[in-house]
Amino acid sequence: MKTLKSRPREKIIIIDFGSQVTKLIARRVRDLGVYSEIITPKEFVRLGDFQAIKGIILSGGPSTVTKKRFQTIPKRILLQNIPILGICYGLQLISKLLGGKIKSSNKRREFGKTYISEKRKSLLTANFFKSKNYVWMSHEDAVIKLPKNFKIVASTEDSKMTIIENSQMKIYGVQFHPEVTHTNNGKQIFKNFVFSICKAKKEWNIISQKNKLIKEIQKNIKKEKVICALSGGVDSSVVALLINKAIKKNLICIMVDTGLMRKNEFKNIFRIFKYKYKLNVKLINSSDIFLNKLKNISNPEKKRKIIGKLFIKIFEKEAKKFKNVKFLAQGTLYPDIIESRTSTGSKTSKIKSHHNVGGLPKKMNFKLIEPLKNFFKDEVRKLGKSLGLSKKIISRHPFPGPGLAIRIVGNITPEKIKILQEADHIYINQLIKNNLYNKIWQAYAALLPLRTVGVMGDTRTYEYTCLLRAVTSEDGMTADYYSFSKDFIDEISNKIINNVRGINRVVYDITSKPPSTIELE
Ligand code: XMP
Repeated sequence: MKTLKSRPREKIIIIDFGSQVTKLIARRVRDLGVYSEIITPKEFVRLGDFQAIKGIILSGGPSTVTKKRFQTIPKRILLQNIPILGICYGLQLISKLLGGKIKSSNKRREFGKTYISEKRKSLLTANFFKSKNYVWMSHEDAVIKLPKNFKIVASTEDSKMTIIENSQMKIYGVQFHPEVTHTNNGKQIFKNFVFSICKAKKEWNIISQKNKLIKEIQKNIKKEKVICALSGGVDSSVVALLINKAIKKNLICIMVDTGLMRKNEFKNIFRIFKYKYKLNVKLINSSDIFLNKLKNISNPEKKRKIIGKLFIKIFEKEAKKFKNVKFLAQGTLYPDIIESRTSTGSKTSKIKSHHNVGGLPKKMNFKLIEPLKNFFKDEVRKLGKSLGLSKKIISRHPFPGPGLAIRIVGNITPEKIKILQEADHIYINQLIKNNLYNKIWQAYAALLPLRTVGVMGDTRTYEYTCLLRAVTSEDGMTADYYSFSKDFIDEISNKIINNVRGINRVVYDITSKPPSTIELE
């Protein structure tokens, strides 16, 4: 019997020229229900088959077409009548390749919110212009002469060619960044491009992929055993449930308790996965080993490295106890994959050595299985929901792999861990009680190494300072602090000081990221 060959999945390709916000372009397109993939210019050139590509978006980036060497794609791509949208550098590249002129100039540079005005109607800008539209700019180079047959759709005061088009060639360019939320109504640009210009169909959503993912896992793993490091975070939880659904008995989950988790959290999670989801899960209590290795260590990077290495060592030791394990499952997400292969090859300067249980070494004697590697966090949350993962776990704030170690500034002692766990427990419970938890992207309490004088009753105290942090964010890359009401701040400060011995001062962190980071270390 002949089997029907399934039609390749329609997609929008995003060519990444190294912008910090390329990821957001892919998210905006997927939010519209159309699959999108980010690839480097080199990968793009190697693509053999363009059949499923409904449109191409060229991202922004640090390169400049005013130099002799610049990042590019072959000009012939622009001549194939595939819809193309160039963003910032992408617009400059299109202009350069098709004979326009670009100049680098301090006078023409625009950064930040800029007012834009419409010059002519375009398919790209239908319903985009409101009474006053601000767009987000970040450029020094500007197009000073359009390529032949291109028209100006919109301008700003300093740059005439802010939106350009050649509607016959289906090529469009925007000098600003519609993918960032600072651009008013930026989503409309993607909507118009994807549906009106590319004629893509709205047929992508993560839930529709669930059965396919499960079948793929079954096909790859067959009857072999899989091991999975489970932290109780959304990513590793979804991986565990997904694989469990595919292969049941052959999945072994290992939870390594570092002793650096929130109060009661790890044991609760262990119980949930063992008894509610009925996974084969083993809890390893290694808190003494972690504490011992962290004794007198106050340097943040040293702490992170010690925890990361120790975690791997313990996990490897445990994994060896199970015979015939061929696969290691990891909760790697799409942003991790994109970030590990920059388009320019340049490494952005390292701020922190991130560690999470998904960062296990590839050198171990296992084949890797990463079922979430094409998805964003919000897609993984939806998948988790459809797999029956409880709302409590799905909506948990992110928690860093090194745990409370990077929220106790300076050296770590069992006493400090206990103090912090108590304060954090009160803080998080108050957020839940006041219906604030789900309005905040991440909140936590930290312990500063600073002891100050206080007075309680008639007695002098000399105790630690507790710092509270709460931020709103889309993906953790940038963040704003959350504005609590004075009542809430008063209440939480009182509650912590009255209930936690060892803290006599509470402060609230009012910095955004950048310039700060979300965690303290
Ligand atoms: P920063 O402090 O870099 O944090 O602004 C951004 C987000 O990443 C989380 N974070 C980590 N997550 N392992 C993780 O799994 C880590 O080592 C790590 N360090 C920071 C942080 O909690 C925030 O959500």
